[in-house]
Amino acid sequence: MKNNSITVEIRQEDATDFPAVYNINSTAFEGRDEAQLVDRLRGSENFIPELSLVATIENKLVGHILFTTIKIVNEETETESLALAPIAVKPELQRKGIGTQLIQHGLKKAKELGYESAIVLGHEHYYPRFGFAPTNKWGIKAPFNVPANVFMAVELVKDALSGVRGTVKYDKAFEEV
Ligand SMILES: CC(C)(COP(=O)(O)OP(=O)(O)OC[C@H]1O[C@@H](n2cnc3c(N)ncnc32)[C@H](O)[C@@H]1OP(=O)(O)O)[C@@H](O)C(=O)NCCC(=O)NCCS
Repeated sequence: MKNNSITVEIRQEDATDFPAVYNINSTAFEGRDEAQLVDRLRGSENFIPELSLVATIENKLVGHILFTTIKIVNEETETESLALAPIAVKPELQRKGIGTQLIQHGLKKAKELGYESAIVLGHEHYYPRFGFAPTNKWGIKAPFNVPANVFMAVELVKDALSGVRGTVKYDKAFEEV
């Protein structure tokens, strides 16, 4: 950990957290799109309550991460995976290791729950430190036009994506963003 890191508690969100989660997403992203996306995803079949996690300091919410199920689809097969989206840390507490703790905790929890891989659309220099690599390594495509280096996947189980090719199908809630 970096020496300016702050250690946080991480736990599953509960209904009383919803307003604070909305607030963190809208302030971190400077708009309501991601906050509203989280609200829509909570009502979807791809929502996994155990993978909507909040980071707290002295019981105050400072960060949130969400993973929802997605499919990697081709003409013959569908492979289940997870989308890491969104993740948000309270602006004044960014770059203090809170996002790192949320991602590491979330990926560990996802693996414990039996998920084998995760996909992210995000900063090309941030996610590789958690094992993410551009999905073209496996022949996995985004369902929209995006530079290859920002669309990444990580295997939670060795070789889970080996031989997997296709296009990622997100929950329809993402189409409204
Ligand atoms: C991205 C985010 C969740 C990271 O959380 P964090 O607690 O700040 O991250 P950490 O302290 O664990 O790691 C810091 C690293 O994040 C990366 N990072 C943070 N904000 C960044 C930004 N705006 N642009 C590029 N990289 C960024 C940097 O690589 C930084 O590493 P460095 O400090 O060594 O330069 C947080 O900055 C955030 O909420 N940003 C706004 C919302 C957002 O962009 N979410 C991600 C969409 S993919």
